[in-house]
Amino acid sequence: MTEILTVTMNPAVDIATSTQQVLPTHKLRCSVPHRHPGGGGVNVARVVHRLTGDCAALYPAGGDTGRLLRKLLDEEGVTSVCVGIDGETRENLSVHEALTGQEFRFVLPGPELLPSEWQACLDRVATLVEVPRYLVASGSLPPGVPSDFYARMIRLVKPLGVKVVLDTSGLALETALKEGVYLVKPSLRELRELFGQPLETESQWCHAAEQLLEQGSAQVVVISLGEGGAWMVTAGGTYFAPALPIEVISATGAGDSFVGAMVWALAQGRELKAAFRYGVAAASAALLSKGTGLCHAADVAHYFNDVILT
Ligand SMILES: Nc1ncnc2c1ncn2[C@@H]1O[C@H](COP(=O)(O)OP(=O)(O)OP(=O)(O)O)[C@@H](O)[C@H]1O
Ligand SMILES: [Mg+2]
Repeated sequence: MTEILTVTMNPAVDIATSTQQVLPTHKLRCSVPHRHPGGGGVNVARVVHRLTGDCAALYPAGGDTGRLLRKLLDEEGVTSVCVGIDGETRENLSVHEALTGQEFRFVLPGPELLPSEWQACLDRVATLVEVPRYLVASGSLPPGVPSDFYARMIRLVKPLGVKVVLDTSGLALETALKEGVYLVKPSLRELRELFGQPLETESQWCHAAEQLLEQGSAQVVVISLGEGGAWMVTAGGTYFAPALPIEVISATGAGDSFVGAMVWALAQGRELKAAFRYGVAAASAALLSKGTGLCHAADVAHYFNDVILT
């Protein structure tokens, strides 16, 4: 049985390269590019796979880039549930500037999906032969996909006993939460946007999370605060994990590593507090790799012991 299914409606092939300095007009000679599979749920699936979890990634894909995405995932050993589309899967470009160490991230829009295409994604979820225990809905929705897409998907899987883990933003987040999920991981920015309030203090953050519990929007709320650490709010208690002191190479991919490790640990039968610690450990491990690089299993195991909850 596939324990974890991730859904990524706006996947990408991420191209990473570097150049001496980013300047206008000049030809910027770049290093040999690396290509990785990308998009929220795709990254979550890659993390689960690295941690030797049982996982599949569902995503729409089209054109040569869509084929490349599938091939890259095959090469990593990540199982794809691929829904063909007419449009061309997007590419993103991240350029490391050697002179300053800064990273320039160019994010292209995804292809517009036809109603029949996003409906086909829902149909794949509805007709899965093996019902996963966890479904991770992560990332933005591309043009053409209605903002209640995740909400529709949740309505399909919840009656099957699937636990939904949600990591998205804006209207997609707001409408999905109305259906009620198992776990949601907003960053502070996403939480503020959701509540339409500045939410400046710790007690305001936790109160907002408690409101989500009370409304039945989620059973577990994890708020990630970048270098400020992370909070986990559940009916059983509220926990804080300070960020680990790490020299950050790139914070990209931290959130996806967090979600991937947390859901992997839960699927392993670990209790929530341990899963939360794995999330922080994996997010911390992701900071060590350049560009969109994700965590490595050995670093996650190493950092796990350093994560102390208060
Ligand atoms: N500069 C940092 N130093 C130490 N830990 C960090 C740092 N940035 C991120 N982390 C770790 O990674 C976790 C997730 O980071 P963050 O809150 O930025 O989530 P995110 O989902 O990547 O953000 P967003 O979706 O808004 O881009 C944090 O809770 C923290 O544990
Ligand atoms: Mg995030």
